[in-house]
Amino acid sequence: MAKFDFSKRDSFGTKFGVIAAAAGSAVGLGNIWRFPYVAGENGGGAFLLVYLLFIIAIGIPVMLSEFTIGRSAQRNVFGSFKRLAPGTYWYLIGLLGVVAAFIILSFYSTVASWTLEYIYKAAADSFSGKTAQELTHMFVGFKSATFRPIIWQIVFMGLTAWIVLSGVKRGIEKYAKILMPVLLLLILVLDIRAVTLDDAGKGLEFLFQPNFAKLNTSSVLAALGQAFFSLSIGMGTLITYGSYINKRENLASTAISVSAADTIIAILAGVAIFPAVFAFGIEPEAGPDLIFRTLPAIFQKLPGGYFFSLLFFILLGVAALTSSISVLEVVVAYFSEELGISRKPATIVAAIGITALGTLSTMSWGALDHISLFGNKIFDMLDFAASNILLPIGGLFIVIFLGWFFGRERIRKELSSEGLFKVNLLQVFMLIVKFLAPIAIALVFLNGIGLLNF
Ligand code: PFF
Repeated sequence: MAKFDFSKRDSFGTKFGVIAAAAGSAVGLGNIWRFPYVAGENGGGAFLLVYLLFIIAIGIPVMLSEFTIGRSAQRNVFGSFKRLAPGTYWYLIGLLGVVAAFIILSFYSTVASWTLEYIYKAAADSFSGKTAQELTHMFVGFKSATFRPIIWQIVFMGLTAWIVLSGVKRGIEKYAKILMPVLLLLILVLDIRAVTLDDAGKGLEFLFQPNFAKLNTSSVLAALGQAFFSLSIGMGTLITYGSYINKRENLASTAISVSAADTIIAILAGVAIFPAVFAFGIEPEAGPDLIFRTLPAIFQKLPGGYFFSLLFFILLGVAALTSSISVLEVVVAYFSEELGISRKPATIVAAIGITALGTLSTMSWGALDHISLFGNKIFDMLDFAASNILLPIGGLFIVIFLGWFFGRERIRKELSSEGLFKVNLLQVFMLIVKFLAPIAIALVFLNGIGLLNF
């Protein structure tokens, strides 16, 4: 096995490319599929408020910490900790990130496989003339068929691997720059249709009017998990992407732009979905099935519904793809830089391993329907383990590393791009990464899993 040649490391080419790629990672199924249903299960408005608070107070600082670590080290997630803290155990956080990447992509590709099926169904005009109930049957029937979803999952993982094989600039950046703006436009069109549905007010009220009675400790943990999942933080995806950012880019403004884009798209997705949920009599707690049942129903009410549904599911697939490539890149960068496997076999091996685990997740409603723990299927367990456990733990150690180990002067140097930019609010950032974020993450986490009780 040859050693990796670090002088030939790939990188992003332009400022817009960096934002598109990082926003491409952040904006994905997490915003359009996961946010609406998690908000629905946790009471809507009050959940949204807690979520926003976590994005600002914890999410943005963790994202900035990841960019800082990655760009400073110029390595994959494991190598970054090894390089910045040689002779210590910090590299274990890097390993945790690689494991989290495996788990996340395994269940992420399950949902992506549903998306591909829905592209196919939209193209075949399968939604037209169906009632909300028929659409529900259609979805449940599909996801509990064992083979068909697995075939789509293999196709999706193949596409992901194909882009990752082309590299950072010519694969990841190139596609993200075109696809992200188109996605935003399409959601806006759906929003306009959704808010003009009869009874749209009820849906908007559900999303925006806080009802704190519905908030409990598990929904606060769910909000934290959703913030981490949606921003792609806590497992070193953005350490890996940070390591490809040019030394002259302003990291703080990048982190703020990416987080803002991610949050706006999640809210816009909620605005597209909840009015339809109420208008078509679907329960907002429908769980992971929510968008696959509501959106085909809205499309039928749109002039040009055939065209829009096709375009929407294609874009959902694309949003999933720009996120999944970032997760696969974590593993591929680790395999190639640390284990000296060249990019092509590294990508193929990683994609096959993840797909193998992913098929178990996809069979959660089919052949493995009987397996569950406390009412959670394999899919739910993988999602819970990654989003509500591994990402918060990863995020906790990332901020502790930055605040207590990396040191203020190194942070200033990285954030100012060696004096190119003025660093505002460093004091506040230090307070957050040293105290506020670690304490908040630890409390929410311990409380959410039941080890502490308020
Ligand atoms: N942020 C992505 C989404 O919202 O769909 C999912 C994701 C990507 C999670 C990368 C974690 C990650 F590291």
